[in-house]
Amino acid sequence: MVWLECLLDHLSVSGICYSDTALSATTRSDWLEVLKSHQTDGLFKLAAIGRKSTLQNEAKIRNDQISWLEPHRSLDSKILNELHNWRIYLNQALFLSMQRTEAHFARYESGHFYKRHKDQHESKASRILTFVVYLHDKWENGDGGELVINVGDTNQVNQIIEPLPGRVVIFKSDEIWHEVRKSNFARSSLTGWFRYDSDAFTPPDSTI
Ligand code: OGA
Ligand code: MN
Repeated sequence: MVWLECLLDHLSVSGICYSDTALSATTRSDWLEVLKSHQTDGLFKLAAIGRKSTLQNEAKIRNDQISWLEPHRSLDSKILNELHNWRIYLNQALFLSMQRTEAHFARYESGHFYKRHKDQHESKASRILTFVVYLHDKWENGDGGELVINVGDTNQVNQIIEPLPGRVVIFKSDEIWHEVRKSNFARSSLTGWFRYDSDAFTPPDSTI
């Protein structure tokens, strides 16, 4: 399996890995078309920060727009099925027992960013692994929108991951502090989480 090296060499050691071969070019463009159908259907909304009681639109922290995948939409369910396969594979490779997947498309127009954060809310330890797949057609130096990984819980930069088309990034949701640098282009991605809880799908209450 193409991911094994990435997983064993990096994810289990430093909490993060990425692969440029995990996703075929055809799959990337298929998934981009699904993202575009969400745009056409007006499903994208300003991303919200925090869980239920503190839910708020906080444009100082992030100002991208997101749209959740839902199994009743047939194009979404094809993607969710593939993500299900990823989850099963990761469970086997890493001896985990992640039960559930949630995922949303994200659009960062020029000037959009997501400040330093961790994906797992302190009060709810159910997000285990985060994955991000970059779906736009091209990225060049100067386009911005890089994913910056910090050292531990400091501001120090450990790694800068360029959002290359088709690149898949996976990291530990509870450990990795990260940020999305200001984008200078229309940045399109699929972001999601493999979780321990097995609740039936309900529209998520949280995006961090
Ligand atoms: C997120 C996130 C990273 C990226 O949506 O929580 O950190 O590179 N995304 O899009
Ligand atoms: Mn994040």
